[in-house]
Formats: sequence, structure tokens, C-alpha cells
Amino acid sequence: MTYNEIRKVFLDYFEQHGHKIVPSASLIPNDPTLLFTVAGMVQWKGVFQGTEQPIAPRVADVQKCIRAGGKHNDLEDVGFDGRHHTFFEMLGNWSFGDYFKEGAIEMSWELLTKVIGLDPNRIVVTTHISDNEATQIWKKITGKDAIRLDKDNWWSAGDTGPCGPCTEMHYDMNPNMAGGLPGSPEEDCGRFVEIWNDVFMQYDRDANGNLTPLPKQNVDTGAGLERWAAVLQGKQDNYDTDLFVNLKRAVSDLTGVIETEENKPSFKIITDHLRSVGFAIADGVIPSNADRGYVIRRILRRAMRHGQILGHRGSLLSELYPALVAEMGDAYPELKTQQSHVVEIIRNEETSFADMLQNGMKLLESELPKINNGILPGDIAFKLFDTYGFPLDLTQMILRDKKIDVDINGFEKCMAEQKERSRADTRGTKLLWESQTDLPDTDDIEKYETKTDKPATVLSILRGEEFVKSANAGDEVEIALNHTPFYGTQGGQVGDMGVFKRGDEIVMNVSETNRVGHNVIHKGTLVAPVSVGDEIMPEINQQNRQQIARAHTATHLLQAALRKVLNEDVEQRGSKVSPDSVRFDFSFGRALTVEEKQAVEDLINQWIQSDLPVAHEEMDIESAKKRGAMALFGEKYGDRVRVITAGDVSCELCGGTHVYHTGEIIKARINKEKSISSGIRRITMSVGVLAE
Ligand code: ALA
Repeated sequence: MTYNEIRKVFLDYFEQHGHKIVPSASLIPNDPTLLFTVAGMVQWKGVFQGTEQPIAPRVADVQKCIRAGGKHNDLEDVGFDGRHHTFFEMLGNWSFGDYFKEGAIEMSWELLTKVIGLDPNRIVVTTHISDNEATQIWKKITGKDAIRLDKDNWWSAGDTGPCGPCTEMHYDMNPNMAGGLPGSPEEDCGRFVEIWNDVFMQYDRDANGNLTPLPKQNVDTGAGLERWAAVLQGKQDNYDTDLFVNLKRAVSDLTGVIETEENKPSFKIITDHLRSVGFAIADGVIPSNADRGYVIRRILRRAMRHGQILGHRGSLLSELYPALVAEMGDAYPELKTQQSHVVEIIRNEETSFADMLQNGMKLLESELPKINNGILPGDIAFKLFDTYGFPLDLTQMILRDKKIDVDINGFEKCMAEQKERSRADTRGTKLLWESQTDLPDTDDIEKYETKTDKPATVLSILRGEEFVKSANAGDEVEIALNHTPFYGTQGGQVGDMGVFKRGDEIVMNVSETNRVGHNVIHKGTLVAPVSVGDEIMPEINQQNRQQIARAHTATHLLQAALRKVLNEDVEQRGSKVSPDSVRFDFSFGRALTVEEKQAVEDLINQWIQSDLPVAHEEMDIESAKKRGAMALFGEKYGDRVRVITAGDVSCELCGGTHVYHTGEIIKARINKEKSISSGIRRITMSVGVLAE
């Protein structure tokens, strides 16, 4: 059975048994305790806890999952056995207070042995040590004695939240192989593979480890599709199943390298990482230096290193993405609808890391002969991280084969010192720029147009603490131009990212844009040499800008909705507008109720759906006041101001960048509301694809 057939058989079976079939939820969970969706149950946490109503008493789906950070993390194992993935698909069925242990076990057993036809004699089951009931049910249905285990048979998604005892079904992949049963010391031999886990969700665990019974007795099951494919296709290794064979063929076609025993780990890592990076970005993750964005950046860079091991240079995952779409785009249409976005984001990441990878490897190789105690000094690992963008785990992965460790304490010490320096630097570069009194003001009127068609002249280059006439590829610099479409961080809106180009060639990756007085300062890494007086084309990352614009207009709608739902006295006290996310502080004396939060969110989404026109106008301050434009508490305004008006719901003085129709925001979702000081509340909200 192929992947497509297995998905269908599974869903058909549960549909016939009264389950509502739902699509996979996003990989970005609406849950601050998790970086990614790690299991099918993540979207049902609120249902288990009784805070959300179930859409049906019985539900089933095939859920995309990533386990690459936090409690469930398989990243280090990928490539070195045939069973681990950072991205995988979980087949799951749920009962919300409907059937319980007996129903769940009966259906699992029937599907495994009658429908997909596995040999009952090759299935071994385990139950929790305390769970006599499940143990008896297995005996009754199958005549089998379950192996009773303790911590392996207790399941929860995070450290807190719904949890309960579970029963696992393991398949004997090869009766001729020596190897231990589940729970035995020889278990890791790989002979027995867990193919299904039925969790009996009965408790809610709090931060102190206390268990409170949930309102209902629920069932949460999960089965790895890749493992089912291996079992049903008679393969020992998940990566030899149809989907992976096709993806690996694409890797061979691209790199010109045939898979061998020796390079097999690289094939596995590249195909696995293609899936996690591709799916995560299609769901709205942007590679970055924090949180899930950093997990994806690390995975992407590991993949590139394995491309390099295969002798491949340059773009890798962006070239392979079409093969992923061909393989999985029918089951997950978002891979197709987001294709150009995903490819562009991956390609940008790959372009900026490609040279750093080559140069970093040279540095690492030159250090290896000096190592005589099996440990790479922390400062070298740090240099690789800081100058060449090697995440620590990438360096560890490269050294793993050579049996060399990294001095982690030394690495962390360098990291702490660097943080201290950079705090001093931020103050320092601002002062340095302020000392450039003859630097002409930057003309940044084009920031509202988002694009320029005339080249800009490099007026000043700051490298470290020194203004230089020219700088080289690899240098971290700050550059002032005579004019720019880049928006420098101000008024709570983060600055643009993008590139400087010469013809088609990228000369600088701009990671941050700031304002110092009347100048816009572009910060980033040079990819080619640049000198004062050079002409370059500044190009902002339009995708990122659009995400910021969405978030900014959504902030105005949020303020309007709060005033409508709570009262007219609510006033903005601060905000941070980032790509697809908003942090908004406002004056209000108490926590919002669940109903109020929902009403605010619904109102914003209603305005988004009405696709209200958003007018961007410049006028004198008096006319703006007459219009009733809201001004920011304590802010000083000049004579000419910009007024942003969304339909008849919001009118604010604002120098930021915005969408032209509220429909561009797509969706808004309030994530959190909390107090930050007396009388001041903070709301965090996602918008756009992220919210969706
Ligand atoms: N949530 C359970 C698991 O992931 C079914 O194993």
C-alpha cells in the first residue's frame, strides 16, 4: 500500500465507524507551550480540558507533525536509523467522552489485523503498569498478555496539560533478527517498531505535576504513517518506502549522486529536512534567529551541509521542493498554493548561507589537526556560529562522525560575552552614526511605495566601530544610502529586511533597518565588496513587508475593537508590529473575560471579511483633528501628518505602512491577554497565514 492508499484506508475505516474526518491542523499550534504541532491531539487540547466544544464526539484525521525541539525532539536521530523523522504524518482517531478503552482497542485491532491484514502473531502490545482494565481488554479481544510498562506507557504533549496511560502496539519487523521486546534492555535493536499508540486521556497535569481528572474520559490515538508504510511495503527502513524513494530520486537527479550505504544518512537527512522545512514555511514559519524560526533555519542549514557532503553546491531544498509538491501536494494543497512563497523564502536562506558554509568548513577543517583531546574549543564553535552562521548542533553533527565533542561551556561563555558586547554596540553604533554630522538626511519617502526604480548611492559604511571606504564579502556592516524604500524601525513597527543588488547579483543581505535621527541605517552582511560612492539597487523583501503591513493595520482594528467592546477610554500605551504578529499595550483596569476577548477577535475578523478600503492620506494636523483621527497618548506630531482610515471603523494618525484593504489581513487571532503593570494590559495577536 502506498502512502496515498494508507491515508485513505485509515480515514475510510474511521468514517465508517462514525468519525467525522477533519483536515490536518497547522504545524503552528495555537498553544504557547509548544513550538510545533507534535501530535494529532494538539488541536484538541481545549476540548479535552473542557474549555472548547468538540465538533463531533468522534473525529479522525491525518496530522502533519514536527518533532524538532522541546519535549518531543527527534532531530538528532534523523539519518542514523530508519525510523526517525523531524516531520511525519500521524494517523489519529479521537473520542471526546464517547467510546473509551474497549472501543479504542477493538477498532485498532480490527484495522491492523482485518483491514490492512497484519499478522496478529507479529504484534506485541504494552499497557501501563497501573492499567488493569486495558490489560484485561487485550486479553479478552486477542488472547494476548500485554507487557506492562511504566513511563513508556504514559503520554502527554507537553510538561503540563492533558495526559493519561496509554497502550502501544509494536510490530515485529523481522522474526529472524535477534532483539529484545519493548521495555527490555535490547529494545533499541529496531526489531520491534511501535506502530500505534492509544492514549486514554483522563487527567490534566499542572506545573507541579498534580493530576486532576478531566471532565470526560477521552481517547487520543496516534500512528506513524511512515512506519505503517514500511510495514506494509515490507521495508526495514521508512526511508525505503515509496514516498521517500521518489524524494531520494529527486536528490539524485539534482546532485548527480547515487545513494550508497555510505551516503545513505545524507539522503535521509535531506529528504526528511525537505519535508519539515517545506511544510513549516508553507504554514507560515519564517526562518529567523528565534523560536520556531530558528529551528527551521537550523534544519535547513543541516540539510545544506549534507548537500555539501554529496558534493552539491548552492540551492538544495528550494530545488527539491517541486518534488515534495508532486509527492504530497494532493494530500496537502497548501504546499501548492504557497509554492512560490516557500521557494522564495528557502532560496533566500540558502543564498545567504551558501558561502558561509564553504568558508566555515574551511575554518573547521583547519582546526581539526590541532585537536588532540577529542574536544573542539568553545571559541572556535562560537566563531563558526557567529561569523559563519553554523548553529551549534550543525557543528556537533559535523564532528559526530569524527568522534569529536564541542566544549559547550566554552561556547556558552563566548555567547554571553557577545551578548554583553552587542548591548554595548547598539548604544555604540547609534552614537557613531550621530557623530557623522555631515551625513545628508536619508530620503525615505519611497518607503510608502515599497519599491524604487532608481539606484541609490552608498554614502557611508560602518564596519565594527570604524567608518570605512570599502568593505568585503562576509563583512557585517551598517550602510547609509542617499535614498531608500526600506522602512527603519520606528513607532513600534519593525524595520524592513531585504537585499542590495548590482544587476542580478546580490551584494548585501539586509537583516535589519534602523533609524538614527534623520538617517535610515541598513544593517546586514555583505555578499560582495561594496565601496562608498557605489550605486546599488535597494530591494525590500516584499513578502515580509506585506506581513508587517497586515499586522500594522490589524493593530488599528484591534484598538478600534477594544474601544467598541470595552469602552471608549481604552488607549494605546505601546505596540510592537512585526511580520504577522502584533503586541499591543493599552490602558484598562482588569483582565478581559473569555467572551470579551472572543468579541474583540470576532469584530476584527468581521471587518477583515468586509474588506474595508484603507485610505493613506497626508494632511495638516488641524484637518486630521477635525476628522477625529486618534493620536497617540504623549506623542508629538509635526504640522503635516499621515492619517490611516479603515472604512468607518478606524481613523488614526500613523507614520507606519499599511495594507490597502482589510481583506489582505486574511485573519486575526488573539493569542494572549495579560497584565504588564497596574492598569496596563497586553494583547498578543497573530494575523495572516500565521493566524489562519
Ligand atoms: N498523542 C499520542 C502520541 O502522539 C497518540 O503518541
